[in-house]
Amino acid sequence: MTIGLSFLLGLLAGSVSYFMLGLWWPLAVLLGLFAWLAFGLLDVKMDSTFTLLGGMLLVFCVSLSGMVLRANDQLSGLQYVDTQDVDGTEFRYPVPPLGQARYGEKIYKASGCVACHTQQVTHESVALDVKAMAGEKNLAAVQEAASRFYKLTGRKASGGAALGLPAGEWETIVTGANAADASKARNFLAAAGASVDVQVRFRGEDLMHNDLQNPEGRNWGRRRSVAQDYLFAEPPMLGSVRIGPDLANIGARYNRDMLMSVLLDPKTLKKDSKMPQHGFLFEQAEKDEQRQPTREAEALVDYLLSLKSANYPLPEAPVDQPFTSSMPKPATAPAEAADTAKPDEAGK
Ligand code: HEC
Repeated sequence: MTIGLSFLLGLLAGSVSYFMLGLWWPLAVLLGLFAWLAFGLLDVKMDSTFTLLGGMLLVFCVSLSGMVLRANDQLSGLQYVDTQDVDGTEFRYPVPPLGQARYGEKIYKASGCVACHTQQVTHESVALDVKAMAGEKNLAAVQEAASRFYKLTGRKASGGAALGLPAGEWETIVTGANAADASKARNFLAAAGASVDVQVRFRGEDLMHNDLQNPEGRNWGRRRSVAQDYLFAEPPMLGSVRIGPDLANIGARYNRDMLMSVLLDPKTLKKDSKMPQHGFLFEQAEKDEQRQPTREAEALVDYLLSLKSANYPLPEAPVDQPFTSSMPKPATAPAEAADTAKPDEAGK
């Protein structure tokens, strides 16, 4: 084979291993060099059965390790992380199922709940808003940084920013930006000496409803689901098509009594409910008596109450972060109020 052709093959091998398999770059260069040498100098022929079989084996091994083993490694290497409760209490996430929840998971599978319910909160997009405040001294530099940002991204200034940023006031620089634009804005403004405040909003119909920012939200979760949420699920029952609401976060949305009445008779919650009754999970009763749940129903509800996965922020899947500068300021620390810049929160 000519040196030119074998060089091309080496280049191909190198770039496949770097860009597609994500190998460490010196390793990819080495692999490319090896392929070049093998075809060019050692005169390996492409038309022998041995080379063809060897090539096929190589392709098989490389794709197996790249697509199956690496993905498996990544998922099985997942660990606990620290997160926060809604009221700020720190704890380790995820929490293993307690009490009868494991047994309840079996009832959930056996009753076919997964046929109509998913356990996966999704989101559609992330939007970032950036506010900035300039002081008297750096006003000119900050104005210049803002107009540089508008010119670079082709966005239009609005509100106070359009009038040239008054000193000492928070002004919105950009709303609904993507991560790249927001981090540009943050970097430009921070470099010019402005205080910068970034707000992160997630949009999607599974997420929390907000008239302005997420009007189609259905309140099914505070954030999207990620692989870490299913560390204790055997197997994860994500579901692909849903008829009823998503249950990934049902434990945070419903209490025990509501869940019992959904199971016994969904029509008590919604008149034209499409969900079937699950009377077989309850004892028979005389006419006017209340039907008591069986052990299975108790366990199933324990399981449902343990489903709170889309409730706590993870490093990988944060929840909405509002502007810190517009939060009520603690009365005792007025000196800190001016310094609300969060330079490393955006762009995630
Ligand atoms: C035939 C499909 C179907 C099956 C099977 C089913 N559900 Fe439902 N479920 C629904 C529908 C539809 C709703 C929404 C109620 C309505 O019509 O408004 C619902 C609502 C719910 C709700 C209330 C959720 C909310 O956000 O309001 C819970 C909890 C629930 N189901 C749990 C279960 C459990 C547990 C099982 C298994 C024992 C189950 N469902 C089986 C269709 C189903």
